[in-house]
Amino acid sequence: MQISEHHMPQTKEHLLASRVGEIVANDFRSAHLFSQFGIDFCCGGGISLERAIKRFDVDEAQLIEALMALGIEGEKQQGLDQLPLSELLDYIEATHHSFVREKAPLLIEYSQKMVRAHGEHYDEIKPFAGWIRALIEDLMPHLMKEEQILFPAIRAMANGEQVNGCFGHIGNPINAMEHEHDQASEIIERLRTLTNDFTPPAHACTTWRICYATLEEFVADLHQHIHVENNILFPKALAI
Ligand SMILES: [Fe+2]
Ligand SMILES: [Fe+2]
Repeated sequence: MQISEHHMPQTKEHLLASRVGEIVANDFRSAHLFSQFGIDFCCGGGISLERAIKRFDVDEAQLIEALMALGIEGEKQQGLDQLPLSELLDYIEATHHSFVREKAPLLIEYSQKMVRAHGEHYDEIKPFAGWIRALIEDLMPHLMKEEQILFPAIRAMANGEQVNGCFGHIGNPINAMEHEHDQASEIIERLRTLTNDFTPPAHACTTWRICYATLEEFVADLHQHIHVENNILFPKALAI
């Protein structure tokens, strides 16, 4: 089994992609900094630092400089990078896959409620609900394919077993999953534009606000999920 010794370097990109709550959990000195810069890390902890900087209108360069000066590294991925493949797969299923399954029905419920209450009055609501449905309808079978086809094949390979998949080389299903990640990312970009970066308008009702906030957390987790699969899991599986 190959376990990479590579450690995630402390980079600006990694900090910006890290979730605020995770940065604080990994290094409490960041909590003090976030307070100074006016970033709410309790209620807004599920979003990436990049989003928080925009939301709380923070000077990005100053905050990044302050974080880096303290050696704060952001979300820990060294751990994931060094996990044996079977444990990495367990981790993905237990965290990201169950997160999608928990939040997806809520997104459908909230967006349908928005259509019923306001769909006739605000033009963006019906397309918004349509894209939410498209995203979920893409993601649910995607999780199934990973859990029932690709992940068992990777587990078997990691155990040194012969894999008799109907898909040929393991690179084929990996390419297919990467392609589906790209499709999900495209839908997310549409949703991001449609919702003005998940910012509810002043007249938005509570459901509308909760829906955007839930979607923002969903997108942050999905971003991390896709990153771990594309950049940690798949290269390791291909290296066997
Ligand atoms: Fe996945
Ligand atoms: Fe995936």
